[in-house]
Amino acid sequence: MGFQPVAYRGLETGTRDRVSYVLNQDRINLVITSPLEKNTEIGKHIDRHGDGVKDVAFRVNDAEAAWKTSLERGAKSAMEPNEIKDDDGEAVVSAIETFGDTIHTFVERNNYIGSFLPGFESNDFGLKVDSTGLVHIDHVVGNQPDGDMQPVCDFYEKVFGWHRFWSVDDKDINTEYSALRSIVMANDNEVVKMPINEPADGLKKSQIQEFIDYYETGGVQHLAMSTRDIISTVRMMRENGVDFLPTPRTYYDNLTDRVGPIEEDVETLADLGILVDVDKNGYMLQIFTQPLQDRPTLFFEVIQRKGSNSFGKGNFRALFESIEREQERRGNL
Ligand code: FE2
Repeated sequence: MGFQPVAYRGLETGTRDRVSYVLNQDRINLVITSPLEKNTEIGKHIDRHGDGVKDVAFRVNDAEAAWKTSLERGAKSAMEPNEIKDDDGEAVVSAIETFGDTIHTFVERNNYIGSFLPGFESNDFGLKVDSTGLVHIDHVVGNQPDGDMQPVCDFYEKVFGWHRFWSVDDKDINTEYSALRSIVMANDNEVVKMPINEPADGLKKSQIQEFIDYYETGGVQHLAMSTRDIISTVRMMRENGVDFLPTPRTYYDNLTDRVGPIEEDVETLADLGILVDVDKNGYMLQIFTQPLQDRPTLFFEVIQRKGSNSFGKGNFRALFESIEREQERRGNL
């Protein structure tokens, strides 16, 4: 996907129970962690959920204040504020629990100049990876068991002071089989967005219910990463072997009737399987990967926004039909 290894923590750096690799692309940092012993926090997470997102970390100016305020507003602590240091400076980290076994780490590192955080050593492992043009995380989606969407949104409203930015209900998003409800929570300046989903009743099993069945609790369904040139990004990723959800050719038959004029060549979008949606402010292009592992849980999205701030309501039908074809092949529809 074009991520460059930049930092490492493990036995060689004095960490005994786990190993972590930090992958970077522009403003996106992914930390990939495996246990080095049995019965560890990380090992238990993998045993229950499979590979997944344990921690959605937020950069803050004051990790102690963020943690304290969150606890005062009803959140549970996952890690007390902890000052960490090395030769490149100091940082403070703390964490709270959120839905399922997921946590939010608060990272304060305004006084740190190293490649990631104290305790990690800079290391590119001799790899020089070509970026695919991903820039930042556009949104992170949390799937919840039926009935938990509103309480989770209330948690973000009460603890972080976030607001409801956008929502859809099962009347909007509903194919013959799948139905879901979704509310997008956003912070004040709407830079941080987390859509929260729950399954709704359809003729057969909702894709959100399939996720819950395999993840066992609420959890992160996908990370959407933005690009300034989705055609180039998706072309590179496909050449690198990334598998995307197939889009039916018929999706492109009346595309410009539905979305109006677009700058991209429709044939090129069809060859790459890129979806397009429009709202009153502009349009956006998006595509979804296959799940990252055989367990049908976590996947990625690549998105390019051209004015549109919304979440592809018009694409849900095409997307769901594609997901449902895969769900049917797994015997889970
Ligand atoms: Fe998304």
